[in-house]
Amino acid sequence: MTWLLTGGAGFIGCHVLRSLRSSGRDVVVFDDLSTGLADRVPDDVPLIRGSVSDQALLEETMREYKIAGVIHLAAKKAVAESVAKPLWYYQENVGGIESVLAAMVNCEVGAMVYSSSAAVYGEPETSPVREDICLAPISPYGETKLVGEWLTRDVALGSGISWTALRYFNVAGAGHPELGDPSVANLIPIALRSVREGKSCQVYGNDYETPDGTCLRDYIHVADLAEAHTAAAALTEANQVGLPINIGTGSGSSVLEVLDSIGRALEREVDYEIVARRPGDPPALVAAADQAREVLGWSAQYDLDDMTASAAAAAGLRA
Ligand SMILES: NC(=O)c1ccc[n+]([C@@H]2O[C@H](COP(=O)([O-])OP(=O)(O)OC[C@H]3O[C@@H](n4cnc5c(N)ncnc54)[C@H](O)[C@@H]3O)[C@@H](O)[C@H]2O)c1
Repeated sequence: MTWLLTGGAGFIGCHVLRSLRSSGRDVVVFDDLSTGLADRVPDDVPLIRGSVSDQALLEETMREYKIAGVIHLAAKKAVAESVAKPLWYYQENVGGIESVLAAMVNCEVGAMVYSSSAAVYGEPETSPVREDICLAPISPYGETKLVGEWLTRDVALGSGISWTALRYFNVAGAGHPELGDPSVANLIPIALRSVREGKSCQVYGNDYETPDGTCLRDYIHVADLAEAHTAAAALTEANQVGLPINIGTGSGSSVLEVLDSIGRALEREVDYEIVARRPGDPPALVAAADQAREVLGWSAQYDLDDMTASAAAAAGLRA
């Protein structure tokens, strides 16, 4: 079967691409290269350069390559940017998936794996977070991801598309040194940048109700995340599924534990300073991972030290 991978030149997409190919599936990448890099796409994989808002180009691609399913990752993902540019986020993320779904319906493509986010939960009062708790995103980014889930669910209901939405927790690490995350929006790349620049890393608050007072997050290795997509592709090919699934490890690491782990990877201590809490940071955000195990038959294989070591290697800070 051939899968269309939107955003396949991005950080997560290039790992998903490799996992899908290892499973024996053919892949066509559709990407506007706005944040993606063409050289992450192997030469023997077709790369269609275009925006997912271009429904005509999507349909042409789906027909030409006889696409059986879509993994839709193409989106803008920076929370702060989404607060500054909400219209653009709705156009890109909601307009994007609307166009992809419309093309799928017209071309009778029957399977969809949608890239969602733990941002749909906002600031949940309980942790681990189950998929069925009340959803209350607190940023335009999180809202666009949630609207994308609703749109997928509603279109699927009317057209018979088999779908799942994967709600990723904190994605980190690199499957290969050349496939690291170049953005500095997450703790591990931010801390590695601080080390490179000889600065201390800022820790936002150490007075939370957590074991060491710093925030707990569920870090998931991007290579594990990629395997979850392949499991989701297999499931949607075979079954009439239709539900969102958390993709996390089910256990949390504190900010200080992450900095310790980076220290082990670099064989030196990471300097940090405690600063004021940031608004909108829940004390703990950890996935309930049982649905991923039961429905997808997937669970994480890598631990935090694997993530920090591979991220440090990708950042050129260790061999
Ligand atoms: N990285 C994370 O921690 C994280 C967490 C939760 C969810 N996600 C979601 O995962 C997906 C991929 O994230 P990533 O970290 O790989 O980001 P990324 O920026 O590296 O990748 C996004 C890819 O989509 C492409 N793209 C963006 N807008 C497009 C458009 N309109 N048309 C065609 N291509 C377009 C970009 O060029 C890029 O290749 C996003 O949907 C994001 O919301 C990421």
